[in-house]
Amino acid sequence: MNEKRIIAGNWKMNLSFPEAIELVEKLKTCEIPEDTGVILGVPYPYLHEIKKMTRSYPRIRISAQNCHQELKGAYTGEVSALMLASIGVDGVILGHSERRMYFHEDNTLLLQKLHAALSFGLHPIFCCGEPLDIRQAEKHEEYVANQLQKCIFQLDEELFRDCMIAYEPIWAIGTGETATPEQAQSMHRFIRNLIDRRYGTEMANLTRILYGGSVKPGNAAALFALPDVDGGLVGGASLQADDFCAIIQASSVHE
Ligand code: PGA
Repeated sequence: MNEKRIIAGNWKMNLSFPEAIELVEKLKTCEIPEDTGVILGVPYPYLHEIKKMTRSYPRIRISAQNCHQELKGAYTGEVSALMLASIGVDGVILGHSERRMYFHEDNTLLLQKLHAALSFGLHPIFCCGEPLDIRQAEKHEEYVANQLQKCIFQLDEELFRDCMIAYEPIWAIGTGETATPEQAQSMHRFIRNLIDRRYGTEMANLTRILYGGSVKPGNAAALFALPDVDGGLVGGASLQADDFCAIIQASSVHE
């Protein structure tokens, strides 16, 4: 991913197959600003077809929303990074707060998943972010630093280079409440400084740090204008072609 801005949609467990196809058909007509890359986080059963539909759109990449940590074996119902790579999937969302919360994914497991994904050339979007009580106790920096240090910062430099980070305060996900531009900028700056300390300044500048949590057409431009916000991870608003296209267009870089 060489673009300056990345707008990723996370469909979660939404849309029937015909609805998904219709959404992608509409998105193909969206004018993507120069220097913006688009990622669609698609449910497993639709990945193959949607990858095929977007093959001639190099700035639209397709991502899974999870993968298993093993490459194959007796794990009924699971999907491996090898399988995803073999159908041309470009990336995978890992560590989303819903996976951490409902499926008990912890740092150890997520590090295994990162290794599995990276070993098949999938680009992970690694999510971090604090719950409301931690924010209220003003422990959010410590909390997010711990999520990064115990997991993705265990990767060596060559592997980390292929990852993106999404900062998603849990209290802003699906709630309609967004982090203020000040809160978002301050956390993104904090994360970039942590990357700088772990991997150096070049890597800190190179790493895409996306904001997630109730990104909408109305607040996207203000968030994407922040110096350390390199794009967004968009849930609800990525299910409507017009809204998602408006968010994509709000990423146009004015410098
Ligand atoms: P939301 O979801 O945009 O609906 O708040 C964001 C996410 O969970 O990635």
